[in-house]
Amino acid sequence: MSRAVCPGSFDPVTLGHVDVIGRAVDLYDAVVVAVGSNVGKNALFTPSERVAMLEDACAEWPSVTVTMFSGLLVDFCRSQGVGVIVKGLRTGADFDYELAMAQMNRRLSGVDTAFLPTAPHLAYVSSSLVREVASLGGDIGPFVSARVLEQIGARLAERVPG
Ligand code: PNS
Repeated sequence: MSRAVCPGSFDPVTLGHVDVIGRAVDLYDAVVVAVGSNVGKNALFTPSERVAMLEDACAEWPSVTVTMFSGLLVDFCRSQGVGVIVKGLRTGADFDYELAMAQMNRRLSGVDTAFLPTAPHLAYVSSSLVREVASLGGDIGPFVSARVLEQIGARLAERVPG
């Protein structure tokens, strides 16, 4: 049985992520979506919240499981019996960043990385831009699921002073 890991921060999951995960579902028998649990200082959502939003976004695919991981991604891959990491690539800048990680991961463990080109209509969408646009009152509806839209609205409302 072929198994792949789709890792990321997913803060929050965007439709670009969901597109890549859905295409991984077509390529592999089982897909483990792995949420990095090293929460950055500016994270909007906790790892558990991100997992819940991903589970909702991937509910249509029975072959997908969503989990958190900490430590080295390749150690997590080994623990799951997974030999392939799947990553989406939006731009050349993504490639430059991802290439070194892919080569390091392969050198460390033999786990290889398969890159999927992001759907062109979502190539400019990132979690960081979604957070920024939402925090400044812009419409992020076209870039995230209804559940994520609702969760971001609620989280930002909590942060309004006074
Ligand atoms: O969504 P992101 O920010 O591209 O996700 C990055 C993530 C979590 C996949 C990456 O930072 C990662 O693999 N972290 C685990 C730590 C690790 O294995 N570091 C060595 C990479 S060569």
